[in-house]
Amino acid sequence: MPKLTSLLLLLTTVTITFVSGYTIIVPRDEAQEFPGGPGLWPEPDRYNTYPDVNWNRTYGAFEPQQIHLSIGDDSKFARVEFATLSSAQQSAFRYWPKKHEYAIKNIQPETWEFEDGGEAHRTIALYRAKTKYLRKGTVYSYQVGAYDDQKLEWCWSAVYEFHTGSKRKEFSFLAIGDLGLNNAVALPQLIELSKTHKYDFLTLSGDQAYNMDDFDGIKGDQYMNLMQEVWARVPYLGVPGNHEGAYNYTHYKNRFKNVPFEDSNFENSLMYSINYKSLHLISFSTEVYFDGTDDMIQTAINWLDADLTEANKHRKERPWIVLITHHPVYCSAPDTEDCTTKAQYLRDGKVNAATGERWGGLEPVLLKHKVDLYLTGHVHNYERTLPVAQGKVAGNGALHNAASYVEVINGNAGPPEATVMFNTTGPYEDWSAVRYDSYGYSSVTVSPCFLEFTHHQVHLDGSLGNIVDRFTLTKD
Ligand SMILES: [Fe+2]
Repeated sequence: MPKLTSLLLLLTTVTITFVSGYTIIVPRDEAQEFPGGPGLWPEPDRYNTYPDVNWNRTYGAFEPQQIHLSIGDDSKFARVEFATLSSAQQSAFRYWPKKHEYAIKNIQPETWEFEDGGEAHRTIALYRAKTKYLRKGTVYSYQVGAYDDQKLEWCWSAVYEFHTGSKRKEFSFLAIGDLGLNNAVALPQLIELSKTHKYDFLTLSGDQAYNMDDFDGIKGDQYMNLMQEVWARVPYLGVPGNHEGAYNYTHYKNRFKNVPFEDSNFENSLMYSINYKSLHLISFSTEVYFDGTDDMIQTAINWLDADLTEANKHRKERPWIVLITHHPVYCSAPDTEDCTTKAQYLRDGKVNAATGERWGGLEPVLLKHKVDLYLTGHVHNYERTLPVAQGKVAGNGALHNAASYVEVINGNAGPPEATVMFNTTGPYEDWSAVRYDSYGYSSVTVSPCFLEFTHHQVHLDGSLGNIVDRFTLTKD
């Protein structure tokens, strides 16, 4: 393991190189080791041993765990999901406005057994419950419980709090990508931010746990317990990545069955959208391009086109459209197909063997419907483009009434490996505005007339660093 002192010394040096846009290079300790990657057991490290994080303790058979929230349009309702190791005959979800403890509502969760796809056929019990209509600008407290029919007693979770969107038009959310059980560098910051009630939800651009299906799904349980300290407070609105692909995404589909896909005319949690104040937010699984059939790609793109068509009917009311995905359509990391053939394939579509023409590409859809921001991950660093279309800077790169969408890759919250370096000398395409090769998280503030995106550096000791990038999209 690296010596903390040497790391801190290294981190005092930050090189900024102006090529096209700018590159921020954070020196690194090449000797750093990473447990917890795919197929490896996680180990305690400085991030996952943050206070109150309980990913590696023993849970009782009926003790609620893996508690996480998601929300629907304008947080008019929320859905909680949780797990127990054994299937309880009775379960419960109760919530109340924090200031009115007497106004408790009890909701009966639906429950099902989730079986891992491995040879052991390990099962856990999952539970999902939806609130009634929630009031604006309100802090709610809640608990989930399961009945232990051996001890003849209820096992209740701790009481958590979440809030609904305020009456103000402006709001903020957090945005991250690529986070594991080990080396979750941004996690301590995210846990503290989740307690502030400043952020209405958190987006995650895919790749979690590395991998949930490892060890018959035990790693999935551990990861969901790690993230409980964030998602029990700040609703999750994420998207799957390639690391969630095992057994046809069944871990993702079951463990995140509380995202609002049923309200979005999709059959599972791989795709959905919500309207939130002046924002239309879409969670779109780009993974179908890499492991799906032609029919599945067509189904996905048809759903996206229909969703965006509907969103554009309400563009005055909700001027901002943000698409969350896992794979980038533009990127500059060297020595990877992700930024060459794969990015082009996703951007321009699949080649029809008979005609030689491409079909099903994402960029024509993004341009047709004037998407504002394409927020993605997979590549383990941070990169932000200028408004870009067909491989060129669009509209001179102006961010006021931008001529095309801006792409942000923030796959750097904390995967169990070193982040991907940029070369310091380029050359880089003109559309590549900012490149940063270490860890961090993003926050986004949205109002009807602006969308301000900020990327924050997190140091290897888990402390907050500088602002790496801030840009603001504006519209007349
Ligand atoms: Fe990925």
